[in-house]
Amino acid sequence: MQILLSLQARGLCLHARVWCPHQTLLLILLLLSPWTFAQVTITKVLTENSVNPIGLDTETPRFSWVMASEKRNVAQSAYQIKVALSESDLQKESNLVWNSGRVSSNQSVFVAYQGSPLKSGTRYFWQVKVWDNQGKASAWSPVVFWQSAFFKPEQEFKAQWITPGFEEDQAQRPSPLFRKEFKTATKKVARATVYITAHGMYEAELNGQRIGDAYFTPGWTSYQKRLQYQAYDVTTMLKSGTDNALGVTLGSGWYRGFLAWGDKKDHYGQDIALLLQLDILYTDGSQESILSDKSWKTSTGPILNSEIYDGEMYDSRKEIPSWSQAAFDDHGWSAAKEADFPKNILIATYNEPIRKHESFKPRQILTTPEGDQVLDFGQNLVGWVEVTLSGKSGDKLELYHTEVLDKKGNFYTENLRAADQKNTFILNGKPNQLLRPHFTFQGFRYVKVVGFPGVLKPDNFTTVALYSDMMPTGDFSCSHPLLNQLQKNIQWGQKGNFLDVPTDCPQRDERLGWTGDAQAFFRTAAYNMNVHNFFAKWLKDVAADQLPTGSVPFVVPNVLGPQATGSAGWADASTIIPWEMYLLYGDKKVLEDQYSSMKAWVGYIRSQSKDDLWKTGFHFGDWLFYIPGDDRDGRSAVTDKYLIAQCFYAYSTQLLIHAARVLGKKEDITEYTDLLQKIKTAFRQEYMTSTGRLVSGTQTAYVLALHFDMLPEELRAQAAQRLVDNIKSYNDHLTTGFLGTPYLCHVLSRFGYEDVAYTLLMQKTYPSWLYPVTMGATTIWERWDGIKPDSTFQTPSMNSYNHYAYGAIGDWMYRNITGIQADAQNPGYQQFIIKPILGGGLNDAQATLKTYYGTIRSAWKKEGKTLTQEIGIPVNSRADIYLTASSLESVTEGGKALNTVKELEVLGVEDGYVRLKAGSGTYKFSIVLE
Ligand code: BGC
Repeated sequence: MQILLSLQARGLCLHARVWCPHQTLLLILLLLSPWTFAQVTITKVLTENSVNPIGLDTETPRFSWVMASEKRNVAQSAYQIKVALSESDLQKESNLVWNSGRVSSNQSVFVAYQGSPLKSGTRYFWQVKVWDNQGKASAWSPVVFWQSAFFKPEQEFKAQWITPGFEEDQAQRPSPLFRKEFKTATKKVARATVYITAHGMYEAELNGQRIGDAYFTPGWTSYQKRLQYQAYDVTTMLKSGTDNALGVTLGSGWYRGFLAWGDKKDHYGQDIALLLQLDILYTDGSQESILSDKSWKTSTGPILNSEIYDGEMYDSRKEIPSWSQAAFDDHGWSAAKEADFPKNILIATYNEPIRKHESFKPRQILTTPEGDQVLDFGQNLVGWVEVTLSGKSGDKLELYHTEVLDKKGNFYTENLRAADQKNTFILNGKPNQLLRPHFTFQGFRYVKVVGFPGVLKPDNFTTVALYSDMMPTGDFSCSHPLLNQLQKNIQWGQKGNFLDVPTDCPQRDERLGWTGDAQAFFRTAAYNMNVHNFFAKWLKDVAADQLPTGSVPFVVPNVLGPQATGSAGWADASTIIPWEMYLLYGDKKVLEDQYSSMKAWVGYIRSQSKDDLWKTGFHFGDWLFYIPGDDRDGRSAVTDKYLIAQCFYAYSTQLLIHAARVLGKKEDITEYTDLLQKIKTAFRQEYMTSTGRLVSGTQTAYVLALHFDMLPEELRAQAAQRLVDNIKSYNDHLTTGFLGTPYLCHVLSRFGYEDVAYTLLMQKTYPSWLYPVTMGATTIWERWDGIKPDSTFQTPSMNSYNHYAYGAIGDWMYRNITGIQADAQNPGYQQFIIKPILGGGLNDAQATLKTYYGTIRSAWKKEGKTLTQEIGIPVNSRADIYLTASSLESVTEGGKALNTVKELEVLGVEDGYVRLKAGSGTYKFSIVLE
């Protein structure tokens, strides 16, 4: 038995060794043995929430793993992690840089490295094994790795910043090319890693092949303080013992391109620049580096001009064949200039890069009444169109992009404001040219084609959706087709606006990291995709761009200037998102990292307040609330902006208190709890009558006051009633804007008005979520009535058709229709709640959510008098389950009476729900409805 156990514990190691019949026999015995059968396997292993990341600059990476089991109620009781510099050391368990030994713990997420100090630029291999709650061991997980980046970039980046060696045409700013030829030693390359960043955007090649599959690198950060570099493994692209060449093309990008309004450019500087270091490690242990410096050569190429808003001009006649390969004759090129740009702001990339995703062919080729040839791709998306075509040298193809056609069916671009969204390609006469832009992206469903040589065919055009490569985590569907389309629209809104930073919209002259939009949508985003690394990175820019006063910008990265800060509901992204990150991902480090930023924001509001009332400064208020016609006089949705500000002051303070509790900051807890009390008292004195009526009788006023607990306990029920009355007075319509909308249905369900929440959700006339769906929307609109019922448009100055903020209802759908809820007491879904609310005339609904523990599933279906509820709980997690049943007797699980199912803890019946607690596994409940 002892032998069997230790063999089983070494399960994976056996793999690597030479097999003999004796071992096979032992293994068979092992598998058959009832005592040793491992009931848990490790199915996924992550380092800092990534699979085999290259280029981590943290010295204490955190490890997570997902487990699976056929059995129920399986949890982890212990783990062991080992880390080594090579796979063979790991297998042999020799020279380990860390061996945690067996650690009794149920922690399977974010276990921090505690071995010997890590070296930079080094690859580490690791694996984990666990023991379950029966004390049985799993096999070792598959071996995974991470590669460290530079811990001291200002010293370890030996390369020099370089800029073009020629006089740039500052009007056109054609994309510069940088090249360098070099020879490698005649020995075997063990590993070659290239580190690249730029002022602007870059695309790099080695020996004529593109390096990596990321776009718009190095991404967008608060460049003066934080500039990301990327690390790529190019071992297999490098030729040993011979000539190699590197080539890099730069575009102006966010760094110096046009951003925001009034023809503003050069937000971070005028100079486009490259920093590149290729570190080659040979198998004999020797090393060599190829560095950007003045030995590099520079020229211009086919990209004549490229701007994020306006698009790209590409002249393929100016392509330079083989320019990024060895043996290319670059003697006409000018030597690069070295520049003294800072290196101490360099950081490794933490979030997922932007990659190519879905592609579409034109669904239709239309000729509009005005005679334009227009391609309809059927989906409003963000990325670009790739064209394959043949024509004469000098033929000019122009592609214009837009989101909608007007009432008459003509190509409509007015709502793009000053953004041209136009790509121009000049052909070089070669057959079947494949053309695409490089340093720009467009938001579009329709493309107007001008100058196409020959007859347009769908086959010539393919769209490529580009967005940050976050792992999809959630899906929601139900028996209502319009709701399913709404869910798709929400997901497309997320895809189109998560290009390295969370943007408001992707098409007009804006595309900025609006903080208010991001906080409104965060919860929904976190259901649909794993946005952990994406927001961890962005929150650091929030802190970096925060003013010394603590005020937080309207947009991050801040390109609007120091005066554009401090709006309630926008700046609160700095407290709301870190707290929700902690709640949903259980990541305490985010709170630690952001705590001073959270506190500084609350401190700023406090400094602006008098007698605990925040009644100063500019605020967007309940942005884009629905404005009823004149006949609605007296019930207008205009909410007092300072009333809103006071609510967010309280909310941010509350979240700071929560964070202080998690981080054990006792003095802060006392100080801010006292402050919060005063903020609420001041609110009541200023904005509430003694009977609980608010000075703004709007939906948003009641929603915020209720959601943030601004009202005394005894006045909340009547306030909720007033909210409902208000909704009824608009014939069951909402009137809320960006700040009220995300919480509207949550408040209704919290106070027992689930039916009203459903009525709003199912409403098809505007303002409502389904109205745009009935109008054919494929994304979320900025305005409730972006297109009116008579097919005319809202005002073009503020009318985007891809603006995720109102998609915040997605959170309510997952959390209430299918009932998958995080448990505030146990963050990160190690414990969670399943509490679906049936209603809205739905017959069924189902959702899945991939957490760090595995996939949660909640599905229900009503058939006549029978309700089935299926629930999936990942290994090492537990759920509090609410079944829609009024008695224990009306419920069976897997055909058995509830009290006979040993894995379930039955808590009783409460408010129309049977309450249970369950450990991991899948459960199928059958309920007889009354
Ligand atoms: C953006 C918004 C943003 C707002 C501020 C707009 O121009 O598109 O989504 O939050 O300004 O109110």
